[in-house]
Amino acid sequence: MTNPRTIIEIRDGKKVFGSFTALTDINLSIRQGEILTLLGPSGCGKTTLMRLIAGFETLTSGAISIDGSDCAGTPPERRPVNMVFQRYALFPHLDVFENVAFGLKVKGMPKAEVKERVSRMLQIVQLDNFANRYIDEISGGQSQRVALARALVNGPKVLLLDEPLAALDLKIRQHMLAEMKRIHTETGATFVYVTHDQDEAMILSDRVVLMEKGRIVQIDRPEDMYARPKSLFAAKFLGETNLFDATVSAVNGIGTTAVTPAGIRFIGAETADRQPSERITVSIRPESLSFQDGEAATQSAEGTVEDVVFIGSRSFYTVRLDDQSPVRIQVQRNGRLALPSIGDRTRVYWDSANVVMLPHS
Ligand SMILES: Nc1ncnc2c1ncn2[C@@H]1O[C@H](COP(=O)(O)OP(=O)(O)OP(=O)(O)O)[C@@H](O)[C@H]1O
Ligand SMILES: [Mg+2]
Repeated sequence: MTNPRTIIEIRDGKKVFGSFTALTDINLSIRQGEILTLLGPSGCGKTTLMRLIAGFETLTSGAISIDGSDCAGTPPERRPVNMVFQRYALFPHLDVFENVAFGLKVKGMPKAEVKERVSRMLQIVQLDNFANRYIDEISGGQSQRVALARALVNGPKVLLLDEPLAALDLKIRQHMLAEMKRIHTETGATFVYVTHDQDEAMILSDRVVLMEKGRIVQIDRPEDMYARPKSLFAAKFLGETNLFDATVSAVNGIGTTAVTPAGIRFIGAETADRQPSERITVSIRPESLSFQDGEAATQSAEGTVEDVVFIGSRSFYTVRLDDQSPVRIQVQRNGRLALPSIGDRTRVYWDSANVVMLPHS
C-alpha cells in the first residue's frame, strides 16, 4: 500500500476548560479519504476533538494542521471541513430545501446548479418529497437526514459526523450506513465519525481511535483492535470478552504462560513486555472458546454448563469453570457437532493465538 497523504495532523493537542482538562496528549494523523471513528465513553472528549478540528474551539496548547498548513486563527467557515452536530442546528424558519441550499447560496452558486445539487442530495437522504416542509413539520430522524444532506451538499474535503445516526431507528440507520459508505466512496471525502455503537464503528471504519478520559488509548483497524486490544479498557469496550486474573509463570520459546489462582493455565503466543511473576489479565473472546479439541486448541479447562441462549444460528453458553469463574462461549450451530446441555460436565478448549494478555488493572 502506498503511504496515504495526511489531511489533518494534530500534535500534542491539549484542551482545558477552566480547571478541567478535556483533552491531553492528542497526537493524531488523519489520512486523506479514510473513515476514522472516534470511539469512547460519554464525556471522553469526542465532540470537543471534532469542534477543535472544525474551528469552533481553539487548542489550549499544541497544533492542528489541515492540508499541510497550520489552522490556528482560521475561522470555521474558511476550513475545508463540515460538521454534522450531535444536536443538529437547522433553521426552523426555512424549509427542508432551503436548509440544504443555504451554504451554496451564501457562496453565490447559480440558482440552477443549487437546485440540481440540492435535489440530488435530498434524493440520497430520501427526503425529496419533503423539500417544502418546515423543520418543525418533520420528525427527529428526518431532521438528522436534512443535517447530513446540508453538510454533504457542498462537497467538503473532511466531513465531521458527530453521532449522525443516533436519532434514527434501526432500519433507516442500516440504510443510512450503507448510503454513508456509498457517499464516502463517491465523494472521496475524509470522514471523521463519532458513534457509541460498536457495530457501526466496525462496519464503517478504516481505523478506530479509542479514547478514555481525554486521552487517545489505542488507534487501530477495527479488526485489530478487537483481536489485539492493548488494555483491559479496550478489550471491554469493543465487544464481549472473558477475563481472568493470572500470574506469569514462564516467558520462553513457547510463548507466555500464566496461571490463575485456581490453577487454570493460559499460554499466549506473544512474549513482548511480559515478565515472570507479573500479574496480568487474560482476555478470551466468547467465539474463541470451543467444546471441541481442535488441531491447535491445546489448552482447556473443565466446568459445568449453567445456561444456554439460542440466537438464531448462534448459541451462547455459560459454563462455570471449576475455579468458579463463569465463561461465555459462542457456538456456531451447524447441526453436526454434539453440544452439551445445562447441567452437563464439559471441557472448554482454546488456542494460544486467541489468548490476549493485558496489563493488570
Ligand atoms: N464548553 C465547555 N466548558 C466546560 N466543559 C466542557 C465544555 N465542553 C465540553 N466540556 C467537558 O469536556 C468533556 C468532554 O466533552 P465532550 O462533549 O467532548 O464529550 P463526548 O465524548 O462528546 O461525550 P458524549 O459521548 O456524551 O457526547 C466533558 O466532561 C464536558 O463536560
Ligand atoms: Mg459528544
